[in-house]
Amino acid sequence: MVSLALDSAALAETYDRVSDRQFNHGKLLVQDLQIAPGERVLDVGCGTGRLGAYVADLVGPSGEVVGLDPLPLRVELANKKRRPNFRANVGRAEDLSQFADGSFDVVFLNSVLHWLPEKLGPLREARRVLARGGRLGVSSAAKERPHDFEVVLKGVLSSLGIAATAETSGNTTHKVTSEDLRSTLSLAGFTDLHLEIRTFTDHFADTDDVVAFYLASSFGNFLSNFAPADAARVKAALAAELERRRVPEGIRLQRNLIFAVARASG
Ligand SMILES: C[S@@+](CC[C@H](N)C(=O)[O-])C[C@H]1O[C@@H](n2cnc3c(N)ncnc32)[C@H](O)[C@@H]1O
Repeated sequence: MVSLALDSAALAETYDRVSDRQFNHGKLLVQDLQIAPGERVLDVGCGTGRLGAYVADLVGPSGEVVGLDPLPLRVELANKKRRPNFRANVGRAEDLSQFADGSFDVVFLNSVLHWLPEKLGPLREARRVLARGGRLGVSSAAKERPHDFEVVLKGVLSSLGIAATAETSGNTTHKVTSEDLRSTLSLAGFTDLHLEIRTFTDHFADTDDVVAFYLASSFGNFLSNFAPADAARVKAALAAELERRRVPEGIRLQRNLIFAVARASG
């Protein structure tokens, strides 16, 4: 099971520093959503608020952005972004009861849906808090096209004879396929769906860089279910495998993300 109790100030600060990847694909999601000045936006699973603060600048002083995240240390960093029109609260996608029906023009979840064990309830909540015709944006790891890192890790675990679990990869525990997402969005009351898978190529300086990224992005869950000795064996074997992917820019790994934008039906 994914734990929300493993985060620390150091992991939250690291995430704020190393999350250019989520920030950059988040900007693409925001572009797909065509967010305009004056709009009211809810950023579900806002993390340390980099994207929320960016959107606050887009909606300007007549608009507002509210961020929501279950991790208090990340919410604290989000509120340090100090935008008059951006605030973050502690809370979960499953319970948006602090917001009235129809109170937002846009709701987005950037790299968050694959953390949620159940999707229909949160997506129905998103639908409820959206005004009629309001837009929902989701970016999420694609179950039908695993990230390179997951493929490498799976190979490493099998070569070491260690059983892989859903949590092993640490950042994509509850992935959905495009088809699952399509039907869940429709059930949740969304229409006009545009969905595509986009591939991103990342370069990492070394294995420590990869591990730090996955640890911070998974708020401490990555490899957390292994005994320390097994985790050390996995890291050593990972290093050997990752080095085989080195190109002049660094260790090359691709990620595949579903991007979905839909409208709240009337
Ligand atoms: C990889 S981070 C993405 C953060 C941010 N959206 C970004 O683009 O940088 C995943 C976030 O999902 C949040 N999360 C996990 N479970 C959640 C839930 N049940 N409801 C809302 N957010 C959740 C985590 O706390 C974490 O901040």
